[in-house]
Amino acid sequence: MDTLCFSNIVVYVLLVAGFKASMAVSSLRQSQNLSDASGTTLVSQGGNFELGFFTPGNSGKRYLGIWYKKIPQTVVWVANNINPIYDSSGVLTVNTTGNLVLTQNNTVVWYTSLTASAQNTVAELLDSGNFVVRDVDEANPEVYLWQSFDFPSDTLLPGMKLGWDLKTRLNRKVTAWNSPDDPTPSGFSWELLLHTYPEFFLMKGSDKFMRIGPWNGLYFSGVPDLKPNPIYDFNFISTSDEVYYIYSLNNTSVISRLMMNPTKSQDIRYVWVEAYKRWEIYQTLPKDYCDNYNLCGPNGNCIISDSPVCQCLKGFQPKIPQAWNTMDWSGGCVRNEALNCNNGSKDGFIRLSGLKVPETKHTWIDQTMSLARCRDKCLSNCSCMAYTSSNISGAGSGCVMWFGDLIDIRKSASDGQDLFIRMAASELDEERGSKKKLAITIVSILGAISVVLLLGFCCCIYQAQRKRKKTDKPDTIEEDQNRGESEDDLDLPLIDFSTIVIAINNFSSENKIGEGGFGPVYRGKLAHGQEIAVKRLSGSSRQGITEFKNEVKLIAKLQHRNLVKLLGCCTQRDDRMLVYEYMPNGSLDCFIFDDTKGKVLNWSRRFHIVCGIARGLVYLHQDSRLRIIHRDLKASNILLDDKLNPKISDFGIARIFGGDQTEGNTKRVVGTYGYMAPEYAIDGLFSVKSDVFSFGILLLEIISGKRSRGFYHPNHSLNLIGHAWNLWKEGRALELIDSSLEEICNLSKVRRCIHVGLLCVQHYPEDRPTMSSVVLMLGSETELAQPKAPGFYTKNDFTETNSYTTPMEINSTNEVTITLLEAR
Ligand SMILES: *[C@@H]1O[C@H](CO)[C@@H](O)[C@H](O)[C@H]1NC(C)=O
Ligand SMILES: *[C@@H]1O[C@H](CO)[C@@H](O)[C@H](O)[C@H]1NC(C)=O
Ligand SMILES: *[C@@H]1O[C@H](CO)[C@@H](O)[C@H](O)[C@H]1NC(C)=O
Ligand SMILES: *[C@@H]1O[C@H](CO)[C@@H](O)[C@H](O)[C@H]1NC(C)=O
Ligand SMILES: *[C@@H]1O[C@H](CO)[C@@H](O)[C@H](O)[C@H]1NC(C)=O
Ligand SMILES: *[C@@H]1O[C@H](CO)[C@@H](O)[C@H](O)[C@H]1NC(C)=O
Ligand SMILES: *[C@@H]1O[C@H](CO)[C@@H](O)[C@H](O)[C@H]1NC(C)=O
Ligand SMILES: *[C@@H]1O[C@H](CO)[C@@H](O)[C@H](O)[C@H]1NC(C)=O
Repeated sequence: MDTLCFSNIVVYVLLVAGFKASMAVSSLRQSQNLSDASGTTLVSQGGNFELGFFTPGNSGKRYLGIWYKKIPQTVVWVANNINPIYDSSGVLTVNTTGNLVLTQNNTVVWYTSLTASAQNTVAELLDSGNFVVRDVDEANPEVYLWQSFDFPSDTLLPGMKLGWDLKTRLNRKVTAWNSPDDPTPSGFSWELLLHTYPEFFLMKGSDKFMRIGPWNGLYFSGVPDLKPNPIYDFNFISTSDEVYYIYSLNNTSVISRLMMNPTKSQDIRYVWVEAYKRWEIYQTLPKDYCDNYNLCGPNGNCIISDSPVCQCLKGFQPKIPQAWNTMDWSGGCVRNEALNCNNGSKDGFIRLSGLKVPETKHTWIDQTMSLARCRDKCLSNCSCMAYTSSNISGAGSGCVMWFGDLIDIRKSASDGQDLFIRMAASELDEERGSKKKLAITIVSILGAISVVLLLGFCCCIYQAQRKRKKTDKPDTIEEDQNRGESEDDLDLPLIDFSTIVIAINNFSSENKIGEGGFGPVYRGKLAHGQEIAVKRLSGSSRQGITEFKNEVKLIAKLQHRNLVKLLGCCTQRDDRMLVYEYMPNGSLDCFIFDDTKGKVLNWSRRFHIVCGIARGLVYLHQDSRLRIIHRDLKASNILLDDKLNPKISDFGIARIFGGDQTEGNTKRVVGTYGYMAPEYAIDGLFSVKSDVFSFGILLLEIISGKRSRGFYHPNHSLNLIGHAWNLWKEGRALELIDSSLEEICNLSKVRRCIHVGLLCVQHYPEDRPTMSSVVLMLGSETELAQPKAPGFYTKNDFTETNSYTTPMEINSTNEVTITLLEAR
């Protein structure tokens, strides 16, 4: 049985092979041993971890290590990583002085060095994954004689301290293996540098690779998305004795670890998903290009959404403009105006928001000083270049000051901190400066003219400029210490790729709930429980990442109870995804075109849905900040929430996809046959009125329970519009009503809806009402105009007129969004 398991595992996971069967013993007493040849292992009391000999990958070498007992080979710790054993002669013993000694053919390959010799010791593998040497009668963690947690390999487990024990000068850091075959420590590590204001780095050898940044009371400055979450709780402890990062798991049934990945040069947090028997990536560092240490040089600022990403801080300019313009940013930036420090303290500060604070190598810190005193102190020392609160928790407290160049600043993807940067007085108020220049010019020209007049003139300019300054919301405000972050940055709804991958189970087919014209849609659940729908945009977008994000930012601001809420977006290389709130009842087409589910939607519910869609469209067309023409309104794009309220989805997607943004003429037709207005389908002309046309079709579909496309009537070749139009002309409009609709009390209301529907589908856009008049018509009893002939009312209309532009087979049952490029 054991042999069978063993061979399965080897076949299944090639990472680590050669695990042997185990006996459930968790500890070794003095003079006992654990030998590779006997195949014995230690198993922690609760069965979480196992310690023994293993062979990583194809290396053929033997190592003493610890791995998860219940999870396919995931090694979390290695003892003799720099001294492999070449055969199965390895033996681990606890010798008489209490030290662990690992031998190969009686040659010592690895051992511990207890500070004091101990007589009565035991080495025990704990359920936390910690392998400890302790006095037999002493279970207090504070007095362990030795513990593996003090000597991490490539994995940080819950409860491990990452950082310094200042008393013993023990520096606990995590270091990646060389490769999955070779646990020799590579140069890639994660460690704490003990600056005045200590900060974590990812290092490659002695080179800084990514600065994680100092702890600011809430998170590490460079990792603002490290937030309270349902998986783990984290903390940073800084006392006179020790400085470290630690995390714990919220729920003992969740398994998570942090691991340094050598091949990807990433620090990855994994979460074990038992249902899929897989480690899923939860978070990774570095996150993006801007996380590269000091990418933009001294006094540069990395802004991932800008192009190029490196920008000089305000008040600075490229030191070597030629190099800077060819994307060699290493020279960084220098001040536009030298500081005036010793000349009467004319300097001041500008405040930049939403940043990762600069490297803290040359800093001074006081955890109790107020920000106002911090400012004064910085001003009084000519080498102080910037200051801010050392603790941003609550109202903010403490003082940290920077000396010399400001290194490795970036704009944070979310949140971020304020930084007050020292500036010469002349930089603090450019406007006042330009006023001066103007005044001087005027003086030279108008030298002879009355000084009184001139003063009056300047005064006016000054006042006008002051007024403008107040309303302009400038980037920076002189000596303003109370301004919040700019609204736009807070609104950028970026969601981490790994978060989405976990939420939707790595794009698994089980999570796929549909395939729209723009790509597949997946259902998922975020870690905090919110259900989401993720639309993965496929095909080539004409937009760059920045434009895409800007569009998403705009669209995300559209909020109306009849619009599906766009929660955010995610980009990963060429992948673009939109994340929406999840609608449990699916789309309207599943109801109205289904005999059984159709009964759920009685007439009053259908009317409620029609009105909701109309109001949502009014908002898109005229009430929102953007004028959005949907261009692909159809039953499958109307989603229903848990109370069967309609919500329009996919609005703005043409915009996000890089389509034309204003009313007019497009070469890129986006839409669905059967819903497209004639002028749009044929000539590519779109406007709010083409949406009104689609709404009219939708209205007729909701009433009739029949699809516009694929409508079939035994007696004639008309489509749904033509059929409705004929019935209307013959005064038999009510025959259009869906047979699954029973007990309609208000037939005149239904008749009115059909009437409105026909007004909406009139052939000429100028004859169609606007959506706001549609809302009025639906909600009142006023007289309505007689509809003129609709567009596209025989089946052949569309295909005949448009066949020469149709590059794809049209399947009459499949309703897909089409995108015709160059449809003219
Ligand atoms: C390990 O322990 C076994 C049984 O106690 C003993 O026979 C063997 O000699 C020991 N091996 C070493 C290398 O100490
Ligand atoms: C136990 O092992 C340690 C480390 O190898 C060594 O320094 C010490 O001398 C050993 N003690 C005995 C009694 O062998
Ligand atoms: C260990 O000892 C055995 C027997 O003496 C020998 O065959 C083997 O080569 C030795 N292994 C190593 C790595 O020295
Ligand atoms: C996890 O722990 C954090 C910190 O204690 C807490 O804020 C959060 O609510 C916890 N989450 C769950 C799901 O228990
Ligand atoms: C821990 O997770 C399990 C399984 O997901 C769940 O049943 C349990 O309620 C959770 N416990 C807590 C305290 O959140
Ligand atoms: C101070 O101002 C004077 C005159 O404006 C100038 O010559 C001198 O260089 C300035 N000193 C410093 C340190 O900026
Ligand atoms: C300014 O601060 C630096 C760093 O703390 C210190 O070395 C220097 O003496 C200070 N200068 C003055 C004038 O206080
Ligand atoms: C940061 O400030 C908060 C709230 O003012 C306080 O509770 C916390 O202890 C402070 N943290 C540090 C490290 O000083």
